[in-house]
Amino acid sequence: MDKKFYVTTPIYYVNDKPHIGHAYTTILADVLARFHRSAGDATFFLTGTDEHGQKVQRAAEKNSLDCQQHCDETVVRFQELWKTLGITNDRFIRTTDAFHKEVVSKVLQDLYDRDLIYKAEYTGWYCVGDERFFTEKDLVDGKCPECGREVTEIVESNYFFRMSKYQQWLIEYIESHPDFILPRFRANETLGFLRRPLEDLCISRPKSRLAWGIELPFDKDYVCYVWFDALLNYASGVGYLQNDEDFKKWWPASCQLIGKDILTTHTVYWTTMLKAMELPLPKTIFAHGWWLTGKTKMSKSLGNVVNPMDMIERCGVDAFRYFLLAEMSPGSDASFTEEAFINRYNSDLANDLGNLASRVLKMALRSCNGTIPQPHTMLNEDKALLALADKALETMENSLNSMALDAGIAAVMDVVRSGNKYFEAAAPWTLAKNGDTQRLETVIYTAAEAMRRVAVLLDPVMPGKMKDLRDMLGMDPALPATLESLHDHSNVLSGKAVQDRAGLFMRIQVEEPAAACAKKPEKKADKAVNTIAPEELIDIAEFGKVQLKTAKVLAAEPVEGADKLLKLQIAVGNEKRQLIAGVAKYYTPEAMVGKTIIIVANLKPAVIRGVESAGMLLAAKAGKKLQLLTVDGEIASGASIG
Ligand code: MSP
Repeated sequence: MDKKFYVTTPIYYVNDKPHIGHAYTTILADVLARFHRSAGDATFFLTGTDEHGQKVQRAAEKNSLDCQQHCDETVVRFQELWKTLGITNDRFIRTTDAFHKEVVSKVLQDLYDRDLIYKAEYTGWYCVGDERFFTEKDLVDGKCPECGREVTEIVESNYFFRMSKYQQWLIEYIESHPDFILPRFRANETLGFLRRPLEDLCISRPKSRLAWGIELPFDKDYVCYVWFDALLNYASGVGYLQNDEDFKKWWPASCQLIGKDILTTHTVYWTTMLKAMELPLPKTIFAHGWWLTGKTKMSKSLGNVVNPMDMIERCGVDAFRYFLLAEMSPGSDASFTEEAFINRYNSDLANDLGNLASRVLKMALRSCNGTIPQPHTMLNEDKALLALADKALETMENSLNSMALDAGIAAVMDVVRSGNKYFEAAAPWTLAKNGDTQRLETVIYTAAEAMRRVAVLLDPVMPGKMKDLRDMLGMDPALPATLESLHDHSNVLSGKAVQDRAGLFMRIQVEEPAAACAKKPEKKADKAVNTIAPEELIDIAEFGKVQLKTAKVLAAEPVEGADKLLKLQIAVGNEKRQLIAGVAKYYTPEAMVGKTIIIVANLKPAVIRGVESAGMLLAAKAGKKLQLLTVDGEIASGASIG
């Protein structure tokens, strides 16, 4: 097995505001890096920013800033977001870093010296508005294919990289390396592109048109084409032509993550550049799909770009990381809506995972002196739950190779959902009541062990919350939370003191104003349901003990020294009683008199603030509102309710 793992993300245009597309690739790389690190692989994770080119030059001019100054100001947005998201990159490369510029310059010179770069006259159709060249066949009705404006024919001298000579080699390489471009259908896309004759690549821009770039070492009137410069970051970032030892250690990359829109630049430009540089190709280039807003492409002009910071503020870093990875299948597009986010959060994290954790911990606290007990005879259902956790481990390990993290996560959530069903079926609250201690202990142990494995399996995805969960289970923080460790089935839990903490994931109430999120849902998700844990359920016999009756309020007065209480004189059939009710903030004494109320008639009398109270009045409370329970029409006092 390869014990080295080098993962890269594209380097992001420094001008852009980071959005969830950028966040997704970087989180995916981070999760892969965390898994590999925890598996003991020597791991290097590179990300950074692409800082040269026309767009940057234009934006800097607009802000009356020097280009470098403009980059220095904008790069912080990415660096800060990665910090907030807990991204563990080993290096953040900027294409304006001096060492990178030096590497680009050396590569250009070397290729030029070996006649792999040559000068030629280039004829193209130039659109002044877009500042772009098009070939004759790109034009639509003789006009710019982008904006429809007039174009002018320009003849310009430029430098070209002899990309065309590698066409046949590249086709054969892709065909003989099934893991080189993933998912497979993207390899076919590249092969489709290679069916047409491959042209040489124009790698220069005259300074008269664009000054913000790396100067060609052999012609000071030109700068390097921004893609040629940017792609080299993957090599310069690990020491190419500067630190041979480092470079030898890390190159070739194990996994280069990209979005589907930059497939050709990576699978054709980058690979042929590497071939010309006589370097091996990366093991895998993986192209993921796009994040859409609902069904629409995210774009600045449509104003539907999802800002990660807004989501993080509202829902926390771990839930955001979880959602992005769980929702996107490898290679396909995924849709982001606030509604989908809240639904998944509430169902997977709050209801399923949070609920199981809270039940296991509560039962351990209540019935096992706050420790995880020793298991006794394991029944089939106990073994089945742990076997499912083993299967999730296998799926997660496989999904790391295929980048199908969504499948790995789904397998873990299967354990969680089965854990909840297991708990319900085993009914430890009944075992506790019946004094079946051995079975109770086995059930609590088994459910806790399933939770522990979940906390390890999801650790790279939700490092913060899964650490909390392991702490709650009393796990020693020094113990490894690695996939490898899960292959060892020794009991590391029994005897650990659990911690009673606030819930792991609080339910998102959809009534909350959603202003913080980019787009309001068209339809609100179901209102929060108060899920009642099975251990809180009572049977009909228990309920039957409660005697509810109607009563008539005869008189009411405040209780001295207690501004929340009213002292009521009530009639329950022929019987007269005195009852203290905490309703003074909502009802005046006068408003109470004459009302038919509902009381718990068989409550043991109590003395409240020195005054005797026989029974309890029922009222409904929601937030700051309180309403008495009463009957729908006239009925005698003392009538029974049931
Ligand atoms: N600077 C180049 C990459 C050079 S790599 C040597 C670039 N930058 S980018 O900022 O425009 O895009 C970076 C990445 O973000 C690309 O992989 C692109 O696919 C991805 N995404 C941009 N919008 C996206 C979505 N809406 N959804 C998912 N990813 C998307 O291209």
